[in-house]
Amino acid sequence: MEFRRINGLPPYVFAQMNALKAEARSKGRDVIDFGFGNPDLPSPGVAVAKLAEAVQNPKNHRYSASRGIPNLRLAIATRYKNLFDVDLDPDTEVVTTIGAKEGLTHLMWVLLGPGDTAIVPSPSYPIHLAGPGFAGAKVITVPMHDPGVSTNDPGDDFFDGLVVAWNEAPVKPRVIIASFPHNPTSACVDLAFMQRLVDFALEHDIVICHDFAYADLGFDGYKPPSILQVPRAKECCVELYTLTKSFSMAGWRVGFLVGNAEVVAALTKLKSYLDYGTFQPVQIAAIVAMNEAVDYPDQLQRIYQSRRDVLIEGVNRIGWAVAPPRGSMFIWAPIPEPYREMGSLDFSRYLIEEADVATSPGVGFGEGGDGHVRFALIENELRTQQAVRNLRKALVKLQ
Ligand SMILES: Cc1ncc(COP(=O)(O)O)c(C=O)c1O
Repeated sequence: MEFRRINGLPPYVFAQMNALKAEARSKGRDVIDFGFGNPDLPSPGVAVAKLAEAVQNPKNHRYSASRGIPNLRLAIATRYKNLFDVDLDPDTEVVTTIGAKEGLTHLMWVLLGPGDTAIVPSPSYPIHLAGPGFAGAKVITVPMHDPGVSTNDPGDDFFDGLVVAWNEAPVKPRVIIASFPHNPTSACVDLAFMQRLVDFALEHDIVICHDFAYADLGFDGYKPPSILQVPRAKECCVELYTLTKSFSMAGWRVGFLVGNAEVVAALTKLKSYLDYGTFQPVQIAAIVAMNEAVDYPDQLQRIYQSRRDVLIEGVNRIGWAVAPPRGSMFIWAPIPEPYREMGSLDFSRYLIEEADVATSPGVGFGEGGDGHVRFALIENELRTQQAVRNLRKALVKLQ
């Protein structure tokens, strides 16, 4: 059969690694799994209890509002005020999405069409590179360097690439997709970088879509900035916020697009044709998570930070030099020199087969990713320590 849109997509890297993990597990092996950024920690208890209660009410079984119920939009506006001192009008500057991934994909549909281009960093979270293509547009990539290896500031590096891409683009891009703390490289930026980005977008009449999936995951006192903290950002920017990582609510599918009212209205209109919103008990529980488990993201941040420390300290001890990230829930590890020729897919496969350690091969995140593997910090400290012992035994060329 002939299909449209999906033919150019490379096989989804997570699916390939999942098959390898499943095979190893079927042989009775205990794979320590850093592969997928799927949080292992439980969602806030108050949200779980509220969901259980709300689901009992038949009124909540009906179609909900595709743009999100008013109190959910109010809760995210309150969170933005408290965290970033950003004012959002819950009626015009917020729309609920079925997670950030759905939000970003459909956002591209309203911003881009055939003949248009979008600037996207590479490597990136796969939907950032694929989303513009689903809308019929083309992607112009800008290299994202490993912040642990490049001596430049990651924001400066990205910005230099952005200017080159803009100057060389045959068709002037309509959209920039940015996302900091960045998946997979863990690159982090400060507010001055966001200011430069907003100035650039205002000057060239571009929409910036900032995917802020790791908004609450900064380490060692670093607080990731929202792009909307920049004055005038709402003239050209929208931001995606999600409960997936901040509240460990990955399966619940609750995200938001916030910022520029015209763009929010465009996505709201499209979504009113596509969906009836997230299941209403989930929306109600999400309100409770944000209003009553306010400090929950800080607790998660501390857990991820100590896992980061265990993994970084461990791999450095066995001779694999990896720099600690300032944010996100990932370690972007350059393949150690004696194994570099293998490339990331074979090296990841080797780690599963020889060390029972699953990572994501960098090649799955696009051009420029192949020299790295990505560890997601979703295993506890004991299992992370065990993983380091397994790696020491398997990576014999490091000794
Ligand atoms: C940059 C980025 N955006 C979005 C997502 C997915 O978010 P959601 O679960 O809200 O769709 C992820 C998950 O790994 C991510 O890394």
